[in-house]
Amino acid sequence: MAKKLQAIRGMNDVLPSDTPHWQRLESILQNLMISYGYQEVRSPLLEPTELFVRTIGEVTDIVSKEMYTFEDRNGDSLTLRPEGTASCVRLGLEHGLLHNQTQRLWYMGPMFRHERPQKGRYRQFHQFGVEVFGLPGPDIDVEVLLLAARLWRLLGIENKVRLEINTLGTMACRARYREALVVYLQENPDQLDEDSKKRLNTNPLRILDSKNPALKNLISGAPKLLDYLNDSAREHFSRLKSMLDGLGIKYLVNPNLVRGLDYYCNTVFEWVTDELGSQGAICAGGHYDNLVAELGGQSTPAIGFAIGLERLLALVVENWKLEVVLHVYLVMLGEEAEIAGFNLAEELHDVLPALRLLSNCSGGDLGKQLKRADKSGAKLALILDKSKLDINCVTVKYLRENKSEITLQIGGIEKFLKEECLA
Ligand code: HAM
Repeated sequence: MAKKLQAIRGMNDVLPSDTPHWQRLESILQNLMISYGYQEVRSPLLEPTELFVRTIGEVTDIVSKEMYTFEDRNGDSLTLRPEGTASCVRLGLEHGLLHNQTQRLWYMGPMFRHERPQKGRYRQFHQFGVEVFGLPGPDIDVEVLLLAARLWRLLGIENKVRLEINTLGTMACRARYREALVVYLQENPDQLDEDSKKRLNTNPLRILDSKNPALKNLISGAPKLLDYLNDSAREHFSRLKSMLDGLGIKYLVNPNLVRGLDYYCNTVFEWVTDELGSQGAICAGGHYDNLVAELGGQSTPAIGFAIGLERLLALVVENWKLEVVLHVYLVMLGEEAEIAGFNLAEELHDVLPALRLLSNCSGGDLGKQLKRADKSGAKLALILDKSKLDINCVTVKYLRENKSEITLQIGGIEKFLKEECLA
């Protein structure tokens, strides 16, 4: 027997019972972006592998072990995008959007990482992200945090998420700090686990982010990045904090928040929740002021964040009981009634575009069609048959309410449906 075909592990189908949630979330996000003056960009799902190697960093988990990379028929190495920032920078540079300009951009779509799937962690997942170019901050840092905070309020989850912030300083501060950290960690080799031994020479800052409880003491005794900041990084961070204080945005400074992608500097942040188990990061981002120049552009400050939409939906869906309910099921008895019925349906779609109407297909007698009407969840059945059509009428049957059937003139249907279904 042929093997049963299934979706790839960690890649989810979205079924009709779930699409209304996705659609509502997407439309809230779109409207939010319009109201803040951000513009949407859409980039290909496939990019040259080199783009991610040069931006996210060769020794990060994403690049070293999680990318879907393959050679295409020309022998070019391509990668399914694991995140959106690199593509946004590439797109901005390629189309001349970044040179001496400010841009406030957003995107939404699938990303791909070959991680170990578990609740809240998938191999194809969806991100909504914003990326702002040409503004050094910290005012823009505040703006992007305010718009995330507004989103939580719009979704009614402001009490389920909290903001953690940190600063990584400039590249120079980070280099000095990295040296001090490596010296400290090397002095305590027996306290390092396998993972951190590997990271010691490649990406030591990530050790601070370790979830291994055995490293807790080692990490808490480590030198603090905040002590290695230069004046401009210190000033940026303290102005950010005082603006957040002034605006009443609560935050926690987490000195161990370092992020798993290499391009960050200055402010980094995460909105986290305790309600989703170990995959609690809902939204994460920060500044990446060197990236545009590293990819060949003029030096351009940049900041952004991305939200994992599966995680966000898992937080909000319990407040949403969304079902798209049909208004009308059109019962048509006989060919003449079918032609009249499809005609009527088209006229109704013209004049009442918000009306949700399903036409019966594949015939059946009255009983059979009414059974389907009932199953469809529609509020009303409109019944067309020759005897009523001959006198220009249709029958209306209430499917959910205990009201008796009525006969309506065809000319009066539009007004009737508007009042019954769309008021
Ligand atoms: P990231 O922290 O790798 O950052 O991902 C951002 C968010 O995407 C995470 O906080 C999480 O909600 C979601 N996410 C990541 N991996 C998965 C997964 N395997 N399954 C489900 N959700 C996931 C970035 O991607 C940066 N590009 C963010 C950014 C934008 N920084 C500056 N601009």
